[in-house]
Amino acid sequence: MPSRFWADARAQMLLDADVTNLNTGSFGPLPRIVFDQVTRLRHRLAEEPMDFLVRQTPPLLWQARERLAHYLAGDPYRLAFTANVTAAINTVAASLRLAAPGEILLTDHEYGAMHWCWERAAQRQGLTLRTFRLPILAETPEEIVSAARTAFTDKTRLLFFSHVLSPTGLVLPARELCADARRHGIVSVIDGAHAPGMIPLNLEEIASDYYGGNCHKWILAPTGSGFLYFAPGSEERLQPLQVSWGWHHDRKRADQRDEFGATPRLRYYESEGVRDPCPWLAVPTALDFQIGLGPEGIHARIEKLVRYVRERLSTIKGMSLATPTHPAMHGAMTAFRLPAGLDPVALRRTLWEKYHIEAPIIERPEGLLIRVSTHFYNTEQEIDRLGEALEMMSCEW
Ligand SMILES: Cc1ncc(COP(=O)(O)O)c(C=O)c1O
Repeated sequence: MPSRFWADARAQMLLDADVTNLNTGSFGPLPRIVFDQVTRLRHRLAEEPMDFLVRQTPPLLWQARERLAHYLAGDPYRLAFTANVTAAINTVAASLRLAAPGEILLTDHEYGAMHWCWERAAQRQGLTLRTFRLPILAETPEEIVSAARTAFTDKTRLLFFSHVLSPTGLVLPARELCADARRHGIVSVIDGAHAPGMIPLNLEEIASDYYGGNCHKWILAPTGSGFLYFAPGSEERLQPLQVSWGWHHDRKRADQRDEFGATPRLRYYESEGVRDPCPWLAVPTALDFQIGLGPEGIHARIEKLVRYVRERLSTIKGMSLATPTHPAMHGAMTAFRLPAGLDPVALRRTLWEKYHIEAPIIERPEGLLIRVSTHFYNTEQEIDRLGEALEMMSCEW
């Protein structure tokens, strides 16, 4: 694909021209068309809330659900919208009743807030929370599967892992891990904060019991769009986080379409009083935008940029690659270990104040990492800018 094509695609993004944004991994910026759509919807919500919420939203909500489910190769009847992946995982953690004594098993690279979420679930149910060490520089997905399998015990009730690790961008073999968990009678819960829109996703094939995801990172949908997907047979154990208008419902028609753009079952999880549904309703526009650019082309573009990141930054003094190069084990985030003894606060400040670069400095027990996200709209020049900044900074390391 000629670079003119990607320059045009970039021109359709709302990006601050003074900032080098290599951090879709934290928050996705919006394509202009998505911003315009969510703003149009909010305008209608502002001017005639009754008409918008009661009459216009239901068909748009079902359409958004169908489009997202289709994009993720899932079933719309098993996809509940949430504000974010945090809400999705909390819903699962607060719902499940697991047999005690027993343990909840996590990798040692989970997102801090989600680790705490399971910590509370374990405390409430008299369970143990245990983490197992991920071989994060593994050369094959089998090494990851084997590490998880070795960690299973007859007390393991639930396995929780990120599909794409936040600190390093390592992509875990989700389907194999879930199949293994199932064979051991273990419930599988996936944190898909980063996967949708970053890597090809097939929820039916992965077949986890529960999968929470975000649309406001790599799909580039508005902030406040996430989802919870549940497997057949796993729905009866789920409870909503908040009791609202979905609570009492006709269980005999739980999975039939209703007049709210949901089903009674989905509304049971989704309804939380009055809320702004516009981020969910704008998801189809975000999907259309990336589908219009061509998912395969985007994938190839990301792979090219990832390779460039590796080449450009691996040679900088004291930095070493922390994300596997195996095609199945990385997506669009590339992390590097930084030399020991650096001050993370000072690094963040310098990157932002001196260079206007967005790339997170992540603190891990093993040391500091810098994580570089490259979506289709990023450029080699931006990666060079980060490289030059790090080279300057490394004079003092
Ligand atoms: C792996 C992982 N899980 C969960 C989250 C939380 O996402 P949100 O705040 O959108 O719920 C993040 C955010 O970056 C993440 O990286």
